[in-house]
Amino acid sequence: MATSSDYALGEYTFPRGWFMIGAASDATRIPAPIRYFGKDLVLYRGESGTAYVVDAYCPHMGAHLAKNTTSYIVRDGEHVEGESIRCPFHGWRFGTDGACNHIPYSDFIPKAAKLRTYPTIERAGIIWVWHDEEGLEPDVELANFGGHYGEPGWVEWKIDYMGDLNSHGIEIVDNMADFGHFIPIHGAKDWQYFANEFQGHVIHQYYSAGHRTLTAADGDQLVLDTWYEGPGFLQSEMAGAFDSFIMIANTPVEDGVTRSWHALMVKVHDGSRETTAEDRANALMYQEGSRLAFAQDVEIWANKRASINPLAIPNDGPYGKVRTWYRQFYNPRAMAPEIQARVNGLAVTLDRRPGHQAA
Ligand code: FES
Ligand SMILES: [Fe+2]
Repeated sequence: MATSSDYALGEYTFPRGWFMIGAASDATRIPAPIRYFGKDLVLYRGESGTAYVVDAYCPHMGAHLAKNTTSYIVRDGEHVEGESIRCPFHGWRFGTDGACNHIPYSDFIPKAAKLRTYPTIERAGIIWVWHDEEGLEPDVELANFGGHYGEPGWVEWKIDYMGDLNSHGIEIVDNMADFGHFIPIHGAKDWQYFANEFQGHVIHQYYSAGHRTLTAADGDQLVLDTWYEGPGFLQSEMAGAFDSFIMIANTPVEDGVTRSWHALMVKVHDGSRETTAEDRANALMYQEGSRLAFAQDVEIWANKRASINPLAIPNDGPYGKVRTWYRQFYNPRAMAPEIQARVNGLAVTLDRRPGHQAA
């Protein structure tokens, strides 16, 4: 296992961005202990239905806000009141801004009685948290996943948990530029196009090739636009046997340990009719095909040693650039424009499209 400092990523141990921290169903009125970014945190849902993520330890005397079953606070159903969470130890209650708003035995509430809270959004059946070592509000909007979640004609994804990998996130994001692995790992064939485009905090991979199983007919091309909006998750619009939309999330649990999930939405019709049980079964089968394709990467990551300095050759694709791009999230926000300027633009690895020349 290698850490952020082994890769010389920058000032911070954990990156800035939106990260998946669980499925929507993980957030309930019973506060749940979770651990990400090397920190103990708590996820709970307020009475309004909104999900919140806060630091786990009470500023009063350090009790864990969620790891309790025997306190009368918990037994009497006072653990979550309105949108606030109450500590099981002495009953101090903290509101959505993290500030203590009630102490059962004191009118005096010290200013320092404040929990750290994290901007949290529930979207597309997933809980997302903004992580930022500078503690600033998000400067990037959370993605909308092509607008396909809940769109007529599309079957929503289920969440595939892929494991806690002893691989740093950078080794996973390397995949964006990794031209050489598509044939041996994923069964690509009949290449037409492979390129990466760097646009500020976004990186794209444009891909067009045949595939052994994911195309409807032999000779068809699988065409993908795949991108990261920040370091935490991949989105991909895929045109193959079905139109579909992939999401792959990588969230640091500890420095060098990454939790990974996969999900896929499938367009089963144009929205002009009801979605049938057969449509759903087809979509689930397609998701499973995509999960198995991603599991081929995961098996590598779960077992490889760290690659601090890849023995790169030119035809590997521009992962030196990917690693530079990735550094913007490990340094103060103010440094991001300068890092982005070093990589912004299109990098074409292969172009055999009819009427085009390789760059
Ligand atoms: S430790 Fe939380 S209220 Fe005392
Ligand atoms: Fe891959």
